[in-house]
Amino acid sequence: MSSYLSALHALTPDPLLDMMARAGADMRAEKIDVSVGVYRNDAGVTPVMDAVREAERRLAAGQATKAYEGQRGNTDFCAAIERFCLGDDLRADLGERLVSYATPGGCGALWAGMAVARRALPDGRVWISAPTWINHRHIAAAAGFEALEYRYWDPASQTLDFDGFVASLTRARAGDIVILQGPCHNPTGADLTDAQWLQLAAVFEERALIAFLDIAYHGFGAEPEADLFGPRLFMERQSEFFVSYSCSKNFGLYRERAGCLLAVCDDRRAANRTALHIADATRAVYSMPPAHGQAVVNAILTNPGLRRTWSEELTAMRRQIEEARRGLHRALTQMMNTRSFSFLTDQKGMFSILPLRDGAGARLRERRAVYMPGSGRINFAALNNSNIERFAEALAGELAD
Ligand code: LMR
Repeated sequence: MSSYLSALHALTPDPLLDMMARAGADMRAEKIDVSVGVYRNDAGVTPVMDAVREAERRLAAGQATKAYEGQRGNTDFCAAIERFCLGDDLRADLGERLVSYATPGGCGALWAGMAVARRALPDGRVWISAPTWINHRHIAAAAGFEALEYRYWDPASQTLDFDGFVASLTRARAGDIVILQGPCHNPTGADLTDAQWLQLAAVFEERALIAFLDIAYHGFGAEPEADLFGPRLFMERQSEFFVSYSCSKNFGLYRERAGCLLAVCDDRRAANRTALHIADATRAVYSMPPAHGQAVVNAILTNPGLRRTWSEELTAMRRQIEEARRGLHRALTQMMNTRSFSFLTDQKGMFSILPLRDGAGARLRERRAVYMPGSGRINFAALNNSNIERFAEALAGELAD
């Protein structure tokens, strides 16, 4: 019998998800997994948030049907995310120029938006930050786009290189798509200032570029309204753009795949067409989005009591991240008092990149049961009172000069 599938070319697994699996299989009690961006409490557990548990209880008690919701998914959820992400004023201004679809997580939103952008812009390219989240290039390729990198990060100073960023965009052509991250850039933790968002808005207008804002950590950098202040200044000044919104992290709904795609179009006619293309593209791939996580998020955002509980839990997660940043800063400064680690406390959200020696990732994994990608990116949301000292101590000797 012939073996057709043996003709497939060899592939390696996704490095981040592979590391998550390997960390999961490591039974060493001292294990510290700072690889995939998942929050963990002092007990090393990613808990179901209280607000989520209560919303689930109410939904389970009141759910009358499992019938299809339709291609947009839960339209109340879509409206709640429009409000939460854009704010009431911008949402009202956009009116019928705004299209929203529930999606399977932020990834689903990125893919669906790029698939439709590809239909509209067959010669367009996608620009991603160097470095960026590992999956951006992959999703762009899956949608048929060539992905090019813009400068974003200066590894020597561990800071954002805004001038380099703007200079890179002079190589972009009108109609190119530029992926921008909302608060808490993955993997650098270096965000644009409000003034830089405004400057960038002018560059996009001048060069006729289309923004694709990827918002996956809303509320991890600051309280939710403040966290999107800069991105909203930018959005207010764009006539056409996409947003992928993920509820995985801020609602702790990782496995439920709760996300939303927003598309802002020039006018109502373009919005109607865009909506039909989103429906057409997604119909072929997943037909309709999942319902459960979206229903939970909608219940939380639209119920004042649940929202209060959730907001307190989100604040506690953010405080743990900030405390872990301060804790690591303190410990590394004690270990190497001639070096500045101020970038750790200047940066925001789950991730920063540590300047590590070559091969540090493998050594830390084998000798210290510490899991992190070879890039040196670490997830602060997995560091807490019970492991921060051990983590800092494991790093000793692995920091590059
Ligand atoms: C990460 O970058 O660790 C997260 O966004 C998880 C993922 O899907 O890669």
